[in-house]
Amino acid sequence: MSQPDGGTFDVVILGAGSGGYAAALRAAQLDLSVALIDKAELGGTCLHRGCIPTKALLHAAEVADQTRESEQFGVKADLVGIDMAGVNAYKDGVVARLYKGLQGLLKQPKITVVQGAGKLVAKDAVEVDGKRYVGRNVVLASGSYSRSLPGLEVDGKRVITSDHALKLDHVPSSAIVLGGGVIGCEFASVWRSFGADVTILEALPRLVAAEDEEISKAVERAFRKRKINFKVGKPFEKVELTDNGVRATIQGGETVEAEILLVAVGRGPTTKDLGYEEQGVTLDRGFVITNERLHTGVGNIYAVGDIVPGLQLAHRGFQQGIFVAEEIAGLNPAVIDEAGIPRVTYSDPEVASVGLTEAKAKEQYGADKVSTYNYNLGGNGKSQILKTAGFIKLVRVEDGPVVGVHMVGARVGELIGEAQLIYNWEAYPAEVAQLVHAHPTQNEALGEAHLALAGKPLHAHA
Ligand code: NAI
Repeated sequence: MSQPDGGTFDVVILGAGSGGYAAALRAAQLDLSVALIDKAELGGTCLHRGCIPTKALLHAAEVADQTRESEQFGVKADLVGIDMAGVNAYKDGVVARLYKGLQGLLKQPKITVVQGAGKLVAKDAVEVDGKRYVGRNVVLASGSYSRSLPGLEVDGKRVITSDHALKLDHVPSSAIVLGGGVIGCEFASVWRSFGADVTILEALPRLVAAEDEEISKAVERAFRKRKINFKVGKPFEKVELTDNGVRATIQGGETVEAEILLVAVGRGPTTKDLGYEEQGVTLDRGFVITNERLHTGVGNIYAVGDIVPGLQLAHRGFQQGIFVAEEIAGLNPAVIDEAGIPRVTYSDPEVASVGLTEAKAKEQYGADKVSTYNYNLGGNGKSQILKTAGFIKLVRVEDGPVVGVHMVGARVGELIGEAQLIYNWEAYPAEVAQLVHAHPTQNEALGEAHLALAGKPLHAHA
């Protein structure tokens, strides 16, 4: 018996987050017909529950800090308080405008948006509400969710994930942040700026443990100064509800109490009960395994975004989505270098990096072939004006290009654009050194670091 027909398309995409909608837009540009399926809002985690709303909170946090600390610039102001309703209205306004824009972008003849929960029911078909959407190609882009730990029950009130944290209607008086990775450090930073007592619990020996070790040290130093508490090197054991909050225990028995606990121990792939395995797609701990061209090895099924092992970042999803659309169109796009994907943590201070850490570079090229240079932002005029501390660390291979750029300090996220060009174009220090960097900018610090590495430092010692 034939099933009700949703139609046949060049590309059927399951999931309209960063990876899925980017694939849809690029495929449509390439004149392919697209069905873009999602059970929730177009834009996915990044737009509605991730990058955009959290960065709005972080900006409000920066405004709070600047008001509180305005006196050091000779400006008199009192921080009267944080009106969470106002903060949320600002945040939601940003999301709403971008959402409207995205809906407009996707409204085009080549793209059919299908609202509903999809399931892969054949190697070339996704079913939504009993209707079958057949694709000459299928792109799995179902994204990720906030993961918890065994025995740790998220109740959405006192034990929460970032989804709930984005909707809080008040500033908690105190918070435990479980996990000192990207989400943990960003929320710890926001809540501290809003006046909460914050304690981060991290199992690994350092905060932002995926970053270069010296960067972690600088973040820890800055957090200590901001009176953000953190306990590293001991895994969390359990959490209990108390009369008016939570009590967390870490290995060894030490306890911490607070009003709420944020679970930020990573994000898991959304791949359960979606029919992937039934159709022969290989899953590893829930992640979809693909080759470097993002093909699953089954039919014409591809996967993009957070369900593919690697960095769970929106811009990686965008790039993978574009890649797959071009692959389907036969354009033979260049394989994406994961190390070349820029990474930014928007806490105060910010962390931004691209390429290899010093440790990874030494592993890859041999310890004697790798050298590093740290340029202290203390010598950078604009950073002095902003009163921020931090540094830029370059990692290079002997007689070779720069293979890692690592930065910490206020606003360094905005410097990642040049840093990623340097890494991805395999620039030599001498090549960057001959480019003129505007004065006074923080960007100049990148130029100075390369001048130094090229053996001709201007505002630094060699
Ligand atoms: P994450 O992997 O960055 O950090 C999770 C941390 O939790 C790790 O440091 C881990 O050691 C720790 N952990 C795990 N089990 C633990 C235990 N039992 N006790 C104590 N600590 C434990 O994941 P996170 O921060 O949840 O973020 C999820 C994803 O979202 C990441 O891939 C991240 O890149 C992405 N994201 C990116 C942002 C950005 O680019 N600015 C912002 C927020 C999230």
